Amino acid sequence: MEVIVEVEQLKKSFGKHTAVKGVSFNIAAGEVFGLLGPNGAGKTTIVRMLTTLLLPDSGRATVCGYDVRRQAARVRQCIGYVPQALSVDGALTGYENMMIFAKLLGLKGRERERRIADLLHFMQLEDAAGRLVRTYSGGMVRRLEIGQAVLHYPRVLFLDEPTVGLDPVARRGVWEILAKLRRASRMAILLTTHYMEEADTVCNRIGILNRGEMVVTGTPEELKALVGNPGASMDDVFTYFTGNFLDAGGDFRGIRQVRHISRRLG
Ligand SMILES: Nc1ncnc2c1ncn2[C@@H]1O[C@H](COP(=O)(O)OP(=O)(O)OP(=O)(O)O)[C@@H](O)[C@H]1O
Ligand SMILES: [Mg+2]
Repeated sequence: MEVIVEVEQLKKSFGKHTAVKGVSFNIAAGEVFGLLGPNGAGKTTIVRMLTTLLLPDSGRATVCGYDVRRQAARVRQCIGYVPQALSVDGALTGYENMMIFAKLLGLKGRERERRIADLLHFMQLEDAAGRLVRTYSGGMVRRLEIGQAVLHYPRVLFLDEPTVGLDPVARRGVWEILAKLRRASRMAILLTTHYMEEADTVCNRIGILNRGEMVVTGTPEELKALVGNPGASMDDVFTYFTGNFLDAGGDFRGIRQVRHISRRLG
C-alpha cells in the first residue's frame, strides 16, 4: 500500500481556541478518504493545512512525501484543491475558466489544448464548454471546478464539501466523476462532507472528527460494526461517535451557500 498523505499529531490553534488537537491519519493511492464531523469540528482547518494554505502549529504532515511546512511549493505541485467557496468565474465560459487555470499551471501549446479537451469530456461538459458559466447548473459548476483542479494530473485531490447544496442527481454526477478519477489514475482523494450517504457510497475509508479530535477511522463497514446494533447506518455511526443528531432536512448553511453561489454567478 503506497501511502500518499501522512498526518501525525497535527495541531492548530486560533488564539485560545484549539481547532485541531493532535490529529493523525494516512491516505493511500487510489483511496477516497472522507472526513466527517459536526460544524466547527476542524475539517476545513485540516484541509487548509494539508494544502499549505495554513501553517500547522505542531505535528507533521507529508503529501506525496513532501513536508507541508518546509516543502510547500512541492506539495502544491502534486495536489489539486476544490475549496468550499466558488472557484470559477460566471462571466466566462467553461472553456475560458479551464484556460485560465491551465495558464496558471504553466501548461502550453498543444498539450494545454489536449488536457482541456480531455477534461471537459471527462467532466461531461463538452457541449456546455462554450456557454457562460453563469448559465450552468450547480452540478455543472462543481464538475468544472473539479476539472480545473486536476488539469496538472495531481496525485492527491482535496475537496471541501464538494456536493453541498446540489440536488440528488447532480450529487450523484459528482460521485461518478470522483469514482472515475480514482479508477483512471489511482488518485488519492480527501473529501469533507455532511452527507452520510456520500460517505457511505463514495469513501472507502472514513475519519470522524469531533471538536478537533479524530474519534475513529475505518471503512464504512468497520465503523458500522463498532456501533453494535446490527443494520447500523452511517447516520447511526455519526451519532454514536459525535453525540450529534443529524438534521433530516437541508440545513440553513447549505441553503445559504446555494444562494451565495447563485448570487455570485447571476
Ligand atoms: N481563521 C480562523 N480564525 C479563527 N477561528 C477559526 C479560523 N478558522 C477556523 N476557526 C475555528 O476553528 C474551528 C474549526 O473550524 P473549521 O472551519 O475547520 O470547521 P469545519 O469542521 O470545517 O466546520 P464546517 O462543517 O462548518 O465547515 C471552529 O471553531 C472555527 O470557528
Ligand atoms: Mg468546513
